[in-house]
Amino acid sequence: MDKSEWIWMNGDFVPWGEAKVHVLSHGLHYGTGVFEGIRAYETEHGTAIFRHQDHLQRLAKSAELYFLDLPCSLDDIRDATHELIRRNGLASCYIRPLAFRGYGEMGLYAPSAPVDVMVAVWPWGAYLGEEGKRNGVRAKVSSWRRISPNSLIPQAKASGQYLNSILAKTESAKAGYDEAILLDEAGIVCEGSGENIFVVREGVIATPGHTASILDGISRRSVIQIAEDLGYRVVERDIARAELYLAEEVFLCGTAAELVPVREVDDHPLGGPGEITRVIQGRFEDALHGRAQEYLEWLDVVEQPSRVTS
Ligand SMILES: Cc1ncc(COP(=O)(O)O)c(C=O)c1O
Repeated sequence: MDKSEWIWMNGDFVPWGEAKVHVLSHGLHYGTGVFEGIRAYETEHGTAIFRHQDHLQRLAKSAELYFLDLPCSLDDIRDATHELIRRNGLASCYIRPLAFRGYGEMGLYAPSAPVDVMVAVWPWGAYLGEEGKRNGVRAKVSSWRRISPNSLIPQAKASGQYLNSILAKTESAKAGYDEAILLDEAGIVCEGSGENIFVVREGVIATPGHTASILDGISRRSVIQIAEDLGYRVVERDIARAELYLAEEVFLCGTAAELVPVREVDDHPLGGPGEITRVIQGRFEDALHGRAQEYLEWLDVVEQPSRVTS
């Protein structure tokens, strides 16, 4: 990965190579952490973090769902992130805040182990590649089912839960595909291993709703609003596996991947990226890069990047 110079850890800015934890940190053993994936873009208004507040609020909610008491406020994390971007001299970057149960007590119920918080920022290109964004990716329905709401909390962005995404992603990569699509136990479509999913049928855009086992993606919310503002009809409903093959268009969206057309599912070609996908992708990119007046409120501008590095 592309290192940067500084990482923020429990209130201090520490050099990248010194941001270390004890091997008996609780989160390392049991996955007791919650995190976010956020991006900052270079815009004409300056470096701007996309929907920063929404990401921080989801982080707080994920922490609460797993009984992790954050030792600092969301404003502290926001301020630290701004300063981190300035200190690292980055015009655009990926942002990874993580709160995890640290070192101090082992066992499954370890309320006295502290909750540690860190934020790292580094340059990271589109997760499924620029070529994928342009021409679409090949996806495979996974043999692994998306975590059930009866076992975990699909709406939380918790570290341990990602073993499910990792199994699916690994299976699809080993089989030569770009991404995995996970179904639930009933065979209903949920999402990609790290993105929400949309299908277009007869001109109507459909995406799994809030009763589905999905992460309530912030890109998903943005895409729904953008699509509706453009005059498209968006419905939140169950999507059957076969609809992935029958759809006119399928696309994925997430912070890391951004908006990515799907050109093939399980070796069924969908054709090149469709028109609706293209139009929404263009508007979404405008929103990310501060080119859309009506979505400027989604940007948290990092004031006066000083490019100070120490
Ligand atoms: C499982 C999963 N679904 C969906 C998403 C998309 O969420 P967002 O748009 O908030 O990045 C992500 C990425 O965070 C994810 O990991």
